[in-house]
Amino acid sequence: MNHNLTDNLKNLSRRHFLKSSAAGMAAALASKNVLFAAQAKKKFRVGLIGCGGRGTGALENCFEAAGILDIDLEVVATADWFKDRAVAAGKKHNVPESRCFAGADGYKKLLDTNVEVVLMATSPNFRPVHFDAAIRAGKHVFMEKPVAVDPPGGRKIIAAGEMAKQKGLAVVAGTQRRHQAGYQRIKYALERGAIGEIAGGAVWWCGGALWYQTKKADESDADYMVRNWVSFTEMSGDHIVEQHVHNLDVANWYIGRTPTSALGFGGRARRKTGNQFDFFSVDLDYGNGLRIHSMCRQINGTDGSVREFFRGTQGETWGGGGLKAAKEIVVPEFPDRNPYVQEHVDMLQSIMSGKPINEAHDVATSTLTAIMSRISTYTGKLVRWKDVVENESSPYYNLTLKPTPEDFEKGEVVAPPDDITAVPGQD
Ligand SMILES: NC(=O)c1ccc[n+]([C@@H]2O[C@H](COP(=O)([O-])OP(=O)(O)OC[C@H]3O[C@@H](n4cnc5c(N)ncnc54)[C@H](O)[C@@H]3O)[C@@H](O)[C@H]2O)c1
Repeated sequence: MNHNLTDNLKNLSRRHFLKSSAAGMAAALASKNVLFAAQAKKKFRVGLIGCGGRGTGALENCFEAAGILDIDLEVVATADWFKDRAVAAGKKHNVPESRCFAGADGYKKLLDTNVEVVLMATSPNFRPVHFDAAIRAGKHVFMEKPVAVDPPGGRKIIAAGEMAKQKGLAVVAGTQRRHQAGYQRIKYALERGAIGEIAGGAVWWCGGALWYQTKKADESDADYMVRNWVSFTEMSGDHIVEQHVHNLDVANWYIGRTPTSALGFGGRARRKTGNQFDFFSVDLDYGNGLRIHSMCRQINGTDGSVREFFRGTQGETWGGGGLKAAKEIVVPEFPDRNPYVQEHVDMLQSIMSGKPINEAHDVATSTLTAIMSRISTYTGKLVRWKDVVENESSPYYNLTLKPTPEDFEKGEVVAPPDDITAVPGQD
C-alpha cells in the first residue's frame, strides 16, 4: 500500500523535533557560552558587487543570518556600475563614499580592500569574471544565480570553484531550494529510495512578463544594456537561464546528474526590447530512458506554474511538496527558515567550522543545463552536454556572447539591435 509520505514526514520530524529540541537547545546554549567565555564575538568584513534589488536584499539576508549566528558583520565596500547605487547601498551601512566603487572595474577595487566575504548580484554575464577574480584574491563568495550566459563562462565558474576548494574558500549560490527545508526533506527521502528510481518528470517556470527599460536619448549602449539586462540574452542568458535555472537545478539535484542532451523550441511573441524569447519547451534526455520536460514562459494573461514533478518507479513527488511513496522514511529536522537567509547561515557557519561549502560546480552545471537548452531552442538543433563542456570541435563549445565582460571593461560595447532574435534552422 502507498503511504502519503508527506504526512508521515511531517509527523516524524515533528516528533523528532519535540524530542530533540529541549536537549538540543540546552546543548547549543551551553556550547555558545563556553565559546563566548573563551573568545570575542566573531566578525566578518563583507562587500557587495551589484547593488540592485537582489544585491541589497542579499546583504540584508546576510545580516539576518549573522544575527541568528550571533556574529558581527562590517560592510567595508560596495561596487555598482552606477555610482549612485553603490553609494546608496553603502550609506545604509556607514561605508564611506571613497569605498563605494563605480564602473566596470569597481569590482577590482572592492577586491583590493580587506573584504573577506563578497556578495555578487550583478547581471549574470559578469559573474564568471568577477567570481574568478574574487577566488584569486582569496575571498569567500555568495553569488546569485545564474552564474554564466555561455559555455565558456560556465566552465570558468567550474574551474574557479576548483581553485576555491584548494584555497579553502566558501562558495554559496543563490539557487535557494538546496537550502529550503521542504526540498531538503524530499531530497533526503529520495536518496533513501522513497519513490524508487526517478523515471521521468517535468519542471516549469511559467508566469507573467518582467519589467523592461527603453533606451534614453544620449545614453551609452553599455548603460542601456546594464539597465535593461533582463531583455538581452548577452546579459541574462535569456529567461530559461535567468529564471528557470531554479527548477532545472532541482531536476539535476534530485536526479543526481546532468542531462546528456537537449532538444527545444520556443519563440518571441510580445517583447519590445532586447532579443530574448518569450517561451521555451525543451526535452531533456538524462540517459537510461529518463526524460524531463522543461517549460518556461513570460507572458501576461497566461496560466502560471512554478514547480517540479518527478515520477518514480515506486511513487511520485512534487519538488519541495507532496510525496507519494511505497515506504516510510524517517527524515531529520532541517532548519525551516527563509531560504534567502538560510543560504547565508550555511555559508557563514561553514566558514567558521573550517569546512567551507562549495556549490560552484552545482550552480555552474545547472546554469550550463539551461544554456544548452537555450542554444538548442535558438538553433533548432539537438545539443549534447559534451558539446558545452568537453567537445572542443563543437560549434557551441566556444560560443561566446558579445559584448563580453571584457568589452564592458574596455568600453567597447555595441548593443545588439532591439527585436532581432535567433531564428531556428538558420546558422
Ligand atoms: N535568487 C533569486 O530568487 C533571485 C531573485 C532576483 C534576482 N536574482 C539574480 O540576482 C542578480 C541581480 O538581479 P537584480 O534583480 O538585483 O537586478 P538589478 O538590475 O536590480 O541589479 C543589478 C545591479 O548590478 C549592477 N551592475 C551591473 N553590472 C555591473 C558590473 N559590471 N559591476 C558592478 N555592478 C554592476 C547594476 O547597476 C544593478 O544595480 C541576477 O543574476 C538575478 O538573476 C536572483
